[in-house]
Amino acid sequence: MFERDEQRTLMIVKPDGVQRGLVGEVISRVERRGLKIVGLKMVWMDKELAKKHYAVHDGKDFFDKLIKFITSSPVVLIAVQGYHAVNLVRRMMGALDPDEADRGSIRGDLAMSRSFNVVHGSDTPENGEAEIALHFSQKEIFDYSRSIDDWLKND
Ligand code: TYD
Ligand code: MG
Repeated sequence: MFERDEQRTLMIVKPDGVQRGLVGEVISRVERRGLKIVGLKMVWMDKELAKKHYAVHDGKDFFDKLIKFITSSPVVLIAVQGYHAVNLVRRMMGALDPDEADRGSIRGDLAMSRSFNVVHGSDTPENGEAEIALHFSQKEIFDYSRSIDDWLKND
């Protein structure tokens, strides 16, 4: 299934992104970057799932606000696969603070605040796998090849 340095990562278009009509913008950036979408769906997270997803932040001062925010609207989950996908997506997202995020990144271009920051992306390959397993069933993740994949293999 995986070639060379392929990784999988979970992106989420957060409630602010869905409410602002930025779903297509985010998906488009993933596609234009050449990353492969292997899973895609809209869900409305309940508090239990949200707390599992953000378990690493449990106990921090922003935790309750974060759980309330991420469960406040449907979100769009995107399972992304590609070479160095985890770091590529983190760079595409940009830094947490919109004023520190590079122009050209999703947050640098679109985020309104630290919390209303449009997207989530897994921070390690291990967390990418764990987060995809948390949000998608095996049947919802697709193993398929694109013709460009053969070109990439020999690059
Ligand atoms: P974090 O994992 O540190 O950031 P990232 O989304 O870049 O991986 O934090 C998770 C989310 O928690 C973040 O997207 C927004 C929220 N958050 C705050 O609202 N305030 C904060 O000070 C921090 C660190 C995070
Ligand atoms: Mg994080």
